[in-house]
Amino acid sequence: MQVIDTIDAFRAARKGFPRLGLVPTMGFLHEGHLSLVRRAREECGAAAVSIFVNPTQFGANEDFSKYPRDMERDLALLREIKTDLVFTPTPAIVYPPGHSTGIEVGGVTTMLEGAVRPGHFRGVATVVCKLFNIVQPTKAYFGQKDAQQTVVLAKMVRDLDMPLEMIVCPTVREADGLAMSSRNVYLSPDERRAGTVLYRALNEADRRFKAGERSAEALRKAIRDVLATEPSGAIDYVSVADRNTLEELETVPADGALASLAVRFGKTRLLDNVVLGG
Ligand code: PAF
Repeated sequence: MQVIDTIDAFRAARKGFPRLGLVPTMGFLHEGHLSLVRRAREECGAAAVSIFVNPTQFGANEDFSKYPRDMERDLALLREIKTDLVFTPTPAIVYPPGHSTGIEVGGVTTMLEGAVRPGHFRGVATVVCKLFNIVQPTKAYFGQKDAQQTVVLAKMVRDLDMPLEMIVCPTVREADGLAMSSRNVYLSPDERRAGTVLYRALNEADRRFKAGERSAEALRKAIRDVLATEPSGAIDYVSVADRNTLEELETVPADGALASLAVRFGKTRLLDNVVLGG
């Protein structure tokens, strides 16, 4: 496994791999990330992982400086699963003095996370575009857990004719259903227990959808009703939306919709989603 922190050295090492799968990460890796790396290796024959806590996707009052980091542990985990290349640039490498270009993806960035975190997706799209240019992956792998991020990045790839395939992989969950996330480490034991309500609420919507419910508002209400059983959670949003445009629906088509939510427990925001009927 080669660990590389400059763009020129990465480009030189990249030449050794005709096909390469990329898993972009912000580190503090968990099984969700590792499952993406395994799939990248299986499908492309070689896997690269970037570890970079991207400052431009954090708002002024968000957790950039506190975001969990453990490079030694991350590298040990990646070595164990035979990752080929790891790119670990500093912010000065990614954003040298004078850097002033950004990627604005239209339409699908204004709602949900985009409404709560203005500027977030500009930061995500810009850094992922740079990573794609540096790594030149055959395929890039992302988790369904950040559903809106996958929609935004797929649109960027399509709109800008980027020569790679984006692969979205299923959310990896703890045994009790909580979606794996690096930020779960912030939860107190009580918050950790309460956080399982997200998946229960989404499953209730899925159950009703499969039983024939097609009113999106009825499904949003079903989600809210289950969330209300854990009053320590403050709801940011509950959405039943078109899977591609992320517009809120009135009627859910037979082929499904994206049910997603964000709930705050103390200072920690938890996100989760399911594809209804998926
Ligand atoms: O999902 C993440 O960890 C980040 O948003 C990403 C895609 C690595 C960009 O910084």
